[in-house]
Amino acid sequence: MTKKVLVLTGGGDCPGLNAVIRGISKRARKQKEWEVYGSIDAFNGILKEPQHIIKITRKIAAGIHVKGGTILKTTNKDNPIKFPTQQPDGTIVFTDRSDELVRKIKALNFDAVINIGGDGSQKISKILFEKGVPIIGVPKTIDNDLSATDMTFGFQTAVQIATDSFDKLVTTAESHHRVMIMEVMGRDAGWIALHTAIAGGAEICLIPEIPYDVNKLVKRIALRYKKGKGFANIVIAEGAMPKEGSITAIPGEKGSEHVRLGGVAFQLSKQLKDAGCPAEIRETVLGHVQRGGSPLAYDRILATLFGVKAFEMILAKEFGRMVSFKNNTITSVTLGEAIKDYNFVSKDSYLVQASRGLGISFGD
Ligand code: F6P
Repeated sequence: MTKKVLVLTGGGDCPGLNAVIRGISKRARKQKEWEVYGSIDAFNGILKEPQHIIKITRKIAAGIHVKGGTILKTTNKDNPIKFPTQQPDGTIVFTDRSDELVRKIKALNFDAVINIGGDGSQKISKILFEKGVPIIGVPKTIDNDLSATDMTFGFQTAVQIATDSFDKLVTTAESHHRVMIMEVMGRDAGWIALHTAIAGGAEICLIPEIPYDVNKLVKRIALRYKKGKGFANIVIAEGAMPKEGSITAIPGEKGSEHVRLGGVAFQLSKQLKDAGCPAEIRETVLGHVQRGGSPLAYDRILATLFGVKAFEMILAKEFGRMVSFKNNTITSVTLGEAIKDYNFVSKDSYLVQASRGLGISFGD
């Protein structure tokens, strides 16, 4: 008898999503009775009328591991547990559509669901599992902020893009005797910034986990100019903040539960000027470039292995769990463990210690 698995991608797009889909599809093909389907725009493909579900055939999955984004499309707004609906007066009302979703998944006769997404998506997976959906989570985020896995796919690609951009900014810093500030993504975690600072050779790295003192930064820059270097490069994470004060965050799109970060590079530039930094300063906000394009080989491999593992977990009926990469092996954790803690940069970690050893200032 034919069995059916439904795959979907939720949250922000991320290099490697298509490699997971292809990994699932290729592994499933070895079990003759299984067919793979995809819900378009995360759970919206099931919730909306008419539904939008595609069959992921061999042809559709062929060669997609090299492509960025997700062939299944995605959304980081339409959470089925808190589904936003715009009212005639423009206000948004949130409703819990999880029971409707469970009913629809059952009516479509899916034997398993694979939900590829970050912490928000895995919270949804857990609720659906508790309501009887045989679901498996696959972790995804360029931010690398999930504690239940040592690494998420997309992170290495984001770090490489940020490092390549940083290298290009060093050129201008050196030539113009400037301070160049480069802002990277990561939300509340400083992983992308820290890795880029080490790979690119930044003088200053500012991350959310270590609030900075702007006066210390001015002194550090002054010392570098005094020593004859005559330029400085700063990497700042979008969630980094000064010891005193807060950062710019704007509300997300209508219906989004998230605030939008972005712009701290300009804020820092002003703070440095106000605190008396005499150097010429320029700011670059990298933004979504970090999530775009083809995944690096590392992320393709990790994502592919995650896809294969997710399907094998279906065969083993290991539902209610999320695939994870721990201690150099692909394993799994319960969805409860998956969403319990975030993975933040620890001030006491060797990564931070070694960065300080290299002379990188965190402004603290
Ligand atoms: O979580 C991934 C991420 O790229 C964050 O680093 C960033 O803050 C956020 O998503 C941006 O989201 P959006 O695409 O909705 O602007």
